[in-house]
Amino acid sequence: MHYKIFASNNLITKSLAGDVEVVYTKQMNFDNQTIWLEINLGAIRRNIQRIHEHTQRPVMTVVKANAYGHGILEVSRTAIQAGAARLCVARIEEAIKIRNAGILAPILVMGYTTPERAVDAIRFGISLMVNLPDLASEYHKVAKQMNGRIAVHAKIDTGMGRLGVLPNDGCAFGKHIAGLDGLFFEGLFTHFASADEPAKQTTLEQISKFDQVIAELNTEGIRPQIIHAANSAASLYFPGAWYDAVRPGISIYGLHPSNDAPLPQEFEPSLTWKCRLSSVKTLPEGSGVGYNHSFVTSKPERIGAVAVGYADGLRRQPDNIVLIGGKRVKQAGGICMDQSMWLLEDNSSARAGDEVVLIGKQGEEHITAEEIGALWGTVNYEVVCGLTDRVPRFYIDE
Ligand SMILES: Cc1ncc(COP(=O)(O)O)c(C=O)c1O
Repeated sequence: MHYKIFASNNLITKSLAGDVEVVYTKQMNFDNQTIWLEINLGAIRRNIQRIHEHTQRPVMTVVKANAYGHGILEVSRTAIQAGAARLCVARIEEAIKIRNAGILAPILVMGYTTPERAVDAIRFGISLMVNLPDLASEYHKVAKQMNGRIAVHAKIDTGMGRLGVLPNDGCAFGKHIAGLDGLFFEGLFTHFASADEPAKQTTLEQISKFDQVIAELNTEGIRPQIIHAANSAASLYFPGAWYDAVRPGISIYGLHPSNDAPLPQEFEPSLTWKCRLSSVKTLPEGSGVGYNHSFVTSKPERIGAVAVGYADGLRRQPDNIVLIGGKRVKQAGGICMDQSMWLLEDNSSARAGDEVVLIGKQGEEHITAEEIGALWGTVNYEVVCGLTDRVPRFYIDE
């Protein structure tokens, strides 16, 4: 098969400064990989465009946490190509990494940045979240010392119980920011706690509290440039939350915000997680498998060892499944750091070197990040964010 590669995970990425599009095209061959991720950037680009078409708003794509495991630089470049208006991250270090790769698009750090690091906001042209009046004053001081200005987005806590001033303090907070000439009052935002739930009441109340703050600021003649609130679920299901821009994360990767807030059918997952069988052998009845022999064969069993472990992001849980030979296969024994063992049962043709799928399709079968999340008692977000750095990422554009 022929793929266009944008970048692989280290050397090629480093040679890819700026918004260069396609580095080279070559025959993709994963034969020498024992474990890898295939990330289809075309799917991410189309998902971003779908959100834009649906909301008719600029899309501020959330690329924090290594773009939900998908690769922060490659996804950032793709997002900008797709027409995204801004990149949103959680930490200043993530923003600097994007800048150092030569990506010039607007960036917002949505998490807390210490006043000491605010110098980097000016140096690198990065917008900062501000959640307290004192923090705004500190940023102002830094900006004055540097003879510059810091663009800030004021956070209102309308019901997340996390960052931001409470709605009753929102107007005074906004006035405080607007009075500090070291700051540029670029944005006002809030975050939803339950936009992915079937009951809409909590989100509607959050919208109404946010609207109240906007209205009070308006009477003071204050209107920040970008008012934003909508995560993926709100981008799909709450038009009243779209304001000047939307701020989706999980949906751009083609993953569902929740069972109750599913993506429309046309969205495409981007990530496939694969690895290889490294050994197939038949163990006699009564053989222990893995550390502490948590599995013991009750008859002669064909056991496959596979090159994936908890240090790659596969949880040390008892009931994992993978696809081998187009069939669902159960775990045998505990997940080790770098390897795991699987009960091949009727997979009689399985051989060392065969491809194993952890997330994605094989034949008629399919395992989703959502299914793994449910198996682990968590959400798909945690599954993809847990894919560790040592798993090589390969970028395709189909
Ligand atoms: C402040 C903020 N905005 C937007 C998002 C994107 O949310 P989602 O991935 O559900 O679209 C997140 C993600 O956690 C967030 O923390």
